Amino acid sequence: MIAAAPGASIPVGRRVRVQVPATSANLGPGFDTLGLALNVHDELEVEATAGTAVRVEVEGVGADEVPTDETNLVARSLLHVLEAVGVEAPGLVLRARNSIPHGRGMGSSGAAIVSGVLAAQGLLEGLVELADADVLRLATELEGHPDNVAPAIFGGLTIAWVDETGPRHKQLAVHRGVSLLVAVPEATMSTKLARSLQPEAVPHADAVFNLSRSALLVAALTQSPELLLDATEDRLHQTYRASAMPETSALVGALRAAGHAAVVSGAGPSVLVLAGDPAARLEAAAIVESRDEPWRALLLAVDIRGGTVEPIPPQAAA
Ligand code: HSE
Repeated sequence: MIAAAPGASIPVGRRVRVQVPATSANLGPGFDTLGLALNVHDELEVEATAGTAVRVEVEGVGADEVPTDETNLVARSLLHVLEAVGVEAPGLVLRARNSIPHGRGMGSSGAAIVSGVLAAQGLLEGLVELADADVLRLATELEGHPDNVAPAIFGGLTIAWVDETGPRHKQLAVHRGVSLLVAVPEATMSTKLARSLQPEAVPHADAVFNLSRSALLVAALTQSPELLLDATEDRLHQTYRASAMPETSALVGALRAAGHAAVVSGAGPSVLVLAGDPAARLEAAAIVESRDEPWRALLLAVDIRGGTVEPIPPQAAA
C-alpha cells in the first residue's frame, strides 16, 4: 500500500456501493483460521460530502441500535483507512441496509469492518491503490483476527493465517454437495466474553486432535463431504464456551448425535450445520424446529463473490 500524494482529496459527490456477506468462522476445529462466506448480505452506499460531518442512516438489522455518527463501526473502519493512507476525511453520508443478524456468530462486526474498508477503497480510486492484501490487513487490524474478515472479503471457504508480513489467506471452492443450515437463536453472545472463557494453554493431545480434524475438514469441504462429521470435531473452544450458551451446546449435541456435522457458528450462539446433501439438511432443520427454544432455521448457500465495491455514477442533471 502506498500513501496518497500530499494534499490528495476525495472529490465531493463521489459515491460508492458496497455489498458484504455474512460469515461463519471456526467451522469446528479451525479456530481463528477457517471461515465460510454465506449468502446473506449487508449493503452500503457512501457519499463524500462537503465539510467533515459523518452521518449514518441504517435500515434493517440494528436500525434502532447502532450509532449514527462517526462512532459507527462502518464509519470508524472507513476513517481508519483514510487515516492510514494519509487522506483527509471528507464529510460522509453512509446509508446501510443490514440483513446480517447482530451478536449471533454470523460475522456482523467483520462485515461492518470490511464494508468500511471496501468503501474507502472505492472512494480512494485514482488516489491510492488498495490491493487485496491491504484490505485484509486493514480489516484484520480492526477485527483482531482474520477468520471472519477473510471470507467476507474473498468469498467461499478461506484459510487465514498471520505471519511476519501480516494476515494471509487462501480461498477454496466448497464441494457442490455441501448444503448449509444456520440455526439462529433469539439470544446474543459477546465474542469478548466467549474468548475470555478459553484457557491460555491447552493439552498437547487436544492440539493434535484439532490439527488432524482441521486438516481433514479442508478435504471434507472441498472433496469428501462424507467425512464432515469426523472433520468437525473440536477440543479448542466449543467445550470451554458451552456454559455461556447451554442451548447452543445442547443443539450441537443433538444434531451430532443424529449424524449431522453441527458446530458453533463463530463465537456463537448460532449453530452451523454442514450437511452432505439437501435431504440431510432438511432432516437437520426438522431437529432444529423441534427444540423447545425458538430457533430460526436458515437454509443458506456459500457466497462465492465475497465483498464488492463499485462506483455509483454521478446523477445526470435534470
Ligand atoms: N474465531 C473467533 C472466535 C470468531 O471464535 O472467537 C468470532 O469472532
